[in-house]
Amino acid sequence: MNWQGQRVILTGAAGGIGGLLARQILSGGARAALIDANADALRTQFDGVENAVTVPGDLSSTAGCIAAIDTATAALGGVDVLINLAGLMSFSTYEDEDAERISTLMQVNLIAPMVLSRAVLPAMLDQGRGRIVNVGSMFGSIGFAYFTAYSASKFGLRGFSQALRRELADQAIDVIYISPRAIKTPINTGPIMAMGAATKMNMDEPEAAAARIFAAMTSGRKEAYLGFPESLFARINAVWPGIVDRATRAQNRTARPFAKPSGVSARQR
Ligand SMILES: NC(=O)c1ccc[n+]([C@@H]2O[C@H](COP(=O)([O-])OP(=O)(O)OC[C@H]3O[C@@H](n4cnc5c(N)ncnc54)[C@H](OP(=O)(O)O)[C@@H]3O)[C@@H](O)[C@H]2O)c1
Repeated sequence: MNWQGQRVILTGAAGGIGGLLARQILSGGARAALIDANADALRTQFDGVENAVTVPGDLSSTAGCIAAIDTATAALGGVDVLINLAGLMSFSTYEDEDAERISTLMQVNLIAPMVLSRAVLPAMLDQGRGRIVNVGSMFGSIGFAYFTAYSASKFGLRGFSQALRRELADQAIDVIYISPRAIKTPINTGPIMAMGAATKMNMDEPEAAAARIFAAMTSGRKEAYLGFPESLFARINAVWPGIVDRATRAQNRTARPFAKPSGVSARQR
């Protein structure tokens, strides 16, 4: 895909991946409406940047999603590409998971992409072209202990992407699902980074990861699983989940104290 002149709406644009991705999209010649809850970070990074408009907005409610997408679409005079990137993480033993946190995480990671996609679809169908990119995670293919709510949200996002892609197969609208492995960004808090080091989890640098995500979005591949051997484990897990159950048991025992140190609830830290 040629980004020149494309009207792009990107959520999570102020984050560790989003900031880098936004710059690549803009340098490709696109015009972009950049949505994020973190208004200060959004303005610091993008105020005054040519062809970028910042749209502070909270995607944790349906009303917030509609307000943000309406503002973004109006600012661009339409939309050609929607990139659902904004996301929340939770790392906790599930018995300690906060009920409100589960609800907010599902809203931001899954419901918001669904609502935003629904909002842009009629215009894309009318103009006879469009692209919806959903950024998931390897945890959307491999259910990960202590990331239970997060994994559930990303499994949902993968299923949504697959179903919508099939529904739109006869239209000129691409639905792309991109699944990165772990990346060193602020979404991975101190306990996650410590657990990652203890379990030797592969973690990519943000610049390299953003470049691979950008390349995947540009190539138009329907699904992209970024990182080896994680991409292989995702395939194995789909066919033989029992193998992955056994292979991750020791690693999960190592990870547990980071999710629940000294038996203290992760949510109380
Ligand atoms: N980093 C990884 O290891 C990794 C791996 C695979 C997939 N991903 C996915 O990549 C995406 C981006 O992650 P990242 O690493 O760039 O994380 P990040 O640095 O935390 O950025 C996420 C951005 O989304 C924003 N956001 C959170 N809740 C929001 C809401 N209710 N409304 C609007 N914006 C909201 C955040 O704002 P605040 O700063 O205000 O929270 C932040 O700017 C996520 O969907 C994540 O699941 C990340």
